[in-house]
Amino acid sequence: MAVTKLVVNEGIATLTIDRQSKLNALNEEVLDELESHFLEIKNSTEVRVIIVTGAGAKSFVAGADINQFPSMTPEDALTFSERGQHVFSLIEASTKPVIAAINGFALGGGCELAMACHLRYASENAMFGQPEVKLGVIAGYGGTQRLPRIVGVGRALELLLSAKMVDAKEAQNIGLVNDVFPQDALLEKVNKIARLLMAQGPQAQAFTLKAVYAGADKSMEDSLAIEARAFQDVFDTTDRIEGSTAFLERRKPEFKNQ
Ligand code: COA
Repeated sequence: MAVTKLVVNEGIATLTIDRQSKLNALNEEVLDELESHFLEIKNSTEVRVIIVTGAGAKSFVAGADINQFPSMTPEDALTFSERGQHVFSLIEASTKPVIAAINGFALGGGCELAMACHLRYASENAMFGQPEVKLGVIAGYGGTQRLPRIVGVGRALELLLSAKMVDAKEAQNIGLVNDVFPQDALLEKVNKIARLLMAQGPQAQAFTLKAVYAGADKSMEDSLAIEARAFQDVFDTTDRIEGSTAFLERRKPEFKNQ
């Protein structure tokens, strides 16, 4: 039986991780399904925005499945880490906006999955943390790298070294989530944000995502060069003609994603 569910509705793909008996913990099956869904979405002309969420009212994803750990050798651990990193990097590299709708626990690999998404919105009951050190291991699906980039080294180390959990409000205060909504309104609010994103130029969003992520680790000089090149490339699209023409004609743009 599938452990994820993909529903596409009016351009919005909602991908739900559903292993509720294990609080949606990530095992190989979940990673395989996430990968194949994202590869499918990448080539879809219908999908414009992706929402990633967890099934049930308690958990987004409570981490990697800890049952895999006891028998794992150091060699297995390398494969394990690289596999998760690969799938999450595929998500981050999406040229269509990806939103995490964090409906509960986002721990370990769950927090790392949310951080690989471009935008993060949480329900009031959500809890965040990187509790790996409690298990005598470290974050291995990008947590030691994405968390400091999102919240800064000091706050990242606080979470990574102490295993402490923070609630949704605190996560918003430190910049880990964009906004917090009542639990029963989360998906409705996130769908509204998805529709707002869908009204913008898709090519422009794709170039924005590429420029932001490609420039993030570079010097200011190099990253500004990346931006200038992306700005040049976006002027090679017909959408940019439609966008400015529609503004001047006082009408809504009709982007063709070209
Ligand atoms: N891997 C495997 N199973 C997990 C899991 C994980 N990361 N997180 C939760 N589960 C399982 C539990 O073992 C339990 O299974 P069982 O009913 O077969 O015993 C089920 O999910 C429910 O979890 P439970 O611990 O009973 O719920 P709780 O409400 O008491 O506690 C948490 C919730 C999230 C605080 C707790 O489950 C937890 O600490 N999970 C591990 C978080 C973690 O360390 N993640 C990083 C992994 S690297």
